[in-house]
Amino acid sequence: MVDDNGSIRTLSVDIGGSGVKAMVLDITGTPITERARVDTPSPAKPDVVINAIALLADSQGNFHRVSVGFPGVVRCGVTETAVNLHSDWIGFDFATALSQRLNKPVRVINDADMQGLGAIAGKGVELVITLGTGFGSALFVDGKLVPNMEMGHHQFRKGQTYEEQLGRTALQKYGEKKWNRRLEKAIASLQHLFNYDCLYIGGGEAVKVNLQLPLNVKLIPNVTGLLGGIALWRD
Ligand code: BGC
Repeated sequence: MVDDNGSIRTLSVDIGGSGVKAMVLDITGTPITERARVDTPSPAKPDVVINAIALLADSQGNFHRVSVGFPGVVRCGVTETAVNLHSDWIGFDFATALSQRLNKPVRVINDADMQGLGAIAGKGVELVITLGTGFGSALFVDGKLVPNMEMGHHQFRKGQTYEEQLGRTALQKYGEKKWNRRLEKAIASLQHLFNYDCLYIGGGEAVKVNLQLPLNVKLIPNVTGLLGGIALWRD
């Protein structure tokens, strides 16, 4: 399971509501291919998303194993929710299906959890939120993940959830200025709730954050969602 340099290659895949991205990481987690992207198929049913991943995989050369960040709750490779994809994902054994298709071992984790694994320092309370089609969240204590924390669908303000207030639909409807004001309120509310040492903000729309951020809040690039893929095999 090794290449000419004795290194295991991991295909890292990030499934989002608007795009599916992939690239190959070496054993240290360093990217060794260019990131490839295709639009998320619509309707985003399991078989067509698996086809899209297979297409991306073909463009990435040789790899030995696969890590996937999925935009919903994932338990033991089975997808339990998929608010921004399709209801056919509920109860779907994704890890097994993708492993059979690619003929490689596959591990699947929530997308925000994977992004967090690529971002955290591993000390203290670290919270990660992702701003994209949906609102992702991940919590770590001394580097240990509290899995599947679905803050996006939790009440935030005005009878709406974090995702309803800060997801891409709200950003497009209300514009960047209002969305940034909402985000500022969300950051304050999360600081009160978690008293985190550091909050990381990632996801495709993090580039639109235009705020004076507190010192313990950091923007992270969207590629972090793929970099976290190496951590899924650390055991
Ligand atoms: C899902 C989360 C996901 C987030 C970002 C939410 O709608 O429920 O599981 O992490 O979107 O993709």
